Amino acid sequence: MDRPDWTSGTDPSQASVARIYDYLLGGAHNFSADRDVARTVEAIEPQARAIAAANRAFLTRATRFLAAEAGVRQFLDIGSGIPTQGNVHEIVHETAPDARVVYVDHDPVAVAHSTSLLADAPNAAVVQADLTEPAGILGHPTTRAMIDFDRPVALLLVAVLHFVPDEGDPRAILAELTAPLAPGSHLVISHGTHEPRTGEAVTEVYRRAVSQGSRATLRDAEEIMGFFDGFDLLEPGLVRGPLWRPDSPGDVPADPSRFWFLAGLSRKA
Ligand SMILES: C[S@@+](CC[C@H](N)C(=O)[O-])C[C@H]1O[C@@H](n2cnc3c(N)ncnc32)[C@H](O)[C@@H]1O
Repeated sequence: MDRPDWTSGTDPSQASVARIYDYLLGGAHNFSADRDVARTVEAIEPQARAIAAANRAFLTRATRFLAAEAGVRQFLDIGSGIPTQGNVHEIVHETAPDARVVYVDHDPVAVAHSTSLLADAPNAAVVQADLTEPAGILGHPTTRAMIDFDRPVALLLVAVLHFVPDEGDPRAILAELTAPLAPGSHLVISHGTHEPRTGEAVTEVYRRAVSQGSRATLRDAEEIMGFFDGFDLLEPGLVRGPLWRPDSPGDVPADPSRFWFLAGLSRKA
């Protein structure tokens, strides 16, 4: 059977976190195995789509702040996902068309689709690499060609660090990724946190459905705070995603604790 290009190099019977997230965001780059998992997740957590959308909205607000207010002109977006509405380079280039954006993901569908989207986008590129091997990201020829580490960089780790288990030593990964960043660089993180009603059950669905390298680990605020070591959190600190600088008070949901991810943006002094 012929398949469009974006499916090459992937096993459609094995669900992937990139494609499940794409489905929850209303995207079309997913297979029936992904949709089956997403529907199981939705049966446990009826807010799953709203949570995915809120995470994406946090990424949008953080990116807009970095480009328009903090004046950052280089972005390294790791675990960037399948392109959807409001991709980082589109947001950044509204403010600064000369700003550079490097996307990094290990998922072949995310990389294939990003490659085709970016074919005509100057100043943006995608790298297929793994967060758990920072040297492969920092030393990749595309990263080196696009990013000047003598100038501030925004490192985006949005909804990806929870796919690194404790035994993968996420703090060591962060230390390696942030060591070369110049003063004035920023670190943006969103991360799934414990949710007694549905969180562990959803995590268990992922644990059974996705490949071993992508299983999720929920963490508490103290553990996630530790990821900002060496950086100063900007206001409002580490908060539930919808509470991070909402565009308007009306955007804040009645019960933000139902959005079980924490989000923060920080700066290297
Ligand atoms: C939930 S999506 C988040 C996408 C985007 N950052 C956002 O917040 O809208 C998580 C992404 O991280 C990627 N990912 C998971 N583990 C990874 C790893 N070890 N290295 C690189 N990418 C990874 C997945 O393939 C997926 O595209």
